[in-house]
Amino acid sequence: MRILAIETSCDETGLTIIEAKGGVKKPSFKILANELASQVEIHKEYGGVFPALAKREHIKNLPILFEKVLKTSKVKKFDLISVTSGPGLEPALWTGIVFAKEKALEYKTPLIPVNHMEGHILSVFGKDKGEFSIPKVEFPALSLLVSGGHTEIVLIKDWMKYEVIGETLDDAVGEAFDKVARMMDLPYPGGPEISKLAEQARKEINKQRYVVSGSLGRSGDDGQRKFSPENFRADGNNISSKIISLPRPMLHSKNFDFSYSGLKTAVLYLIRDIGKLDEKTKMAIAFEFENAAIEPLIHKTKKAIEKYKIKTLIIGGGVSANKHLQREIKKNIKIKTLMPAKKLSTDNSIMIGMVAYMKYLKNKGKVPRPSSIKAEGNLKL
Ligand code: KG4
Ligand code: ZN
Repeated sequence: MRILAIETSCDETGLTIIEAKGGVKKPSFKILANELASQVEIHKEYGGVFPALAKREHIKNLPILFEKVLKTSKVKKFDLISVTSGPGLEPALWTGIVFAKEKALEYKTPLIPVNHMEGHILSVFGKDKGEFSIPKVEFPALSLLVSGGHTEIVLIKDWMKYEVIGETLDDAVGEAFDKVARMMDLPYPGGPEISKLAEQARKEINKQRYVVSGSLGRSGDDGQRKFSPENFRADGNNISSKIISLPRPMLHSKNFDFSYSGLKTAVLYLIRDIGKLDEKTKMAIAFEFENAAIEPLIHKTKKAIEKYKIKTLIIGGGVSANKHLQREIKKNIKIKTLMPAKKLSTDNSIMIGMVAYMKYLKNKGKVPRPSSIKAEGNLKL
């Protein structure tokens, strides 16, 4: 069947025409056309996504991208239209939903709403062009979803059977990366920028250009940390007598939840104490921040794998592109682990088309009334 998929939950406008076949046991896909318009450059000025601007851009982009996918694919009709209905920014989500409803009416096609997070889960099987399929997965599976809006651990008993067993109580991990980057005058989106600086710091440490400190006392809930070469202080003049040490909030809490606002505030105070930041100090902060942000993700994922006897781990969302996270996963997780290709780790409509097919099959072709489909900013899995 031919599916038109639409994604507008945040700052990427995505349109895909995908051919799906094989049924629920052997689903396979072929991309007939795919377009993605990123608004990053527009939002850069504001240091984050500005919802009213995102809405305006989606409204402008949707018809243009639609013409493009029609032209590339030469498709004249669809069997199914799918659209992200949440979670995300409601003004942005509405633009996709309104557009999808118009097209469903015009092409007399059933319309199916898709959960964006389910898209991130299935994105590990996708490609940005050509053909691909969803192989047999050993359940129970676990998904660690890490993006600008979400930090969740999801227990997957079967496709479409999800239970969120842990989530952030405040900021998402990607949001913390973005906000800390902003505090250091780095451009939006901040995740890749922080990551770049932290990677540089790791290289410097290997070359031992940083002074390695003794034991570190930290203000987090994990108390004293033992000496390790990873605990270092920057050699720059600004912080010569200060050890950069940030908390790992909720690292040892008994649940699978996360918290990132305390870490963000700790960076804010640190920067305030230091004053002007030189390049080296930025590197040191990025390094310790990245360690502090990633450590709870690894620790809790490991605990959940043990508790639920998980067979497959699926990582999804923009932060999955983080090199330190990828290395730590490899080092610590021994079960089969799936990660999205870089182009599919961030928002896209390919993953929305994939979910639409699986959901349509699971619901035996039943779709809700178009008038009942609405934007749900906090839609749960
Ligand atoms: O999934 P996504 O594209 O959008 C949301 O649904 O939020 O994720 C975007 C987030 C941003 O916060 C961005 O800073 C973060 O993913 N990100 C990274 C990296 N690349 C993107 N965070 C850390 N390290 C990276 N390499
Ligand atoms: Zn996303």
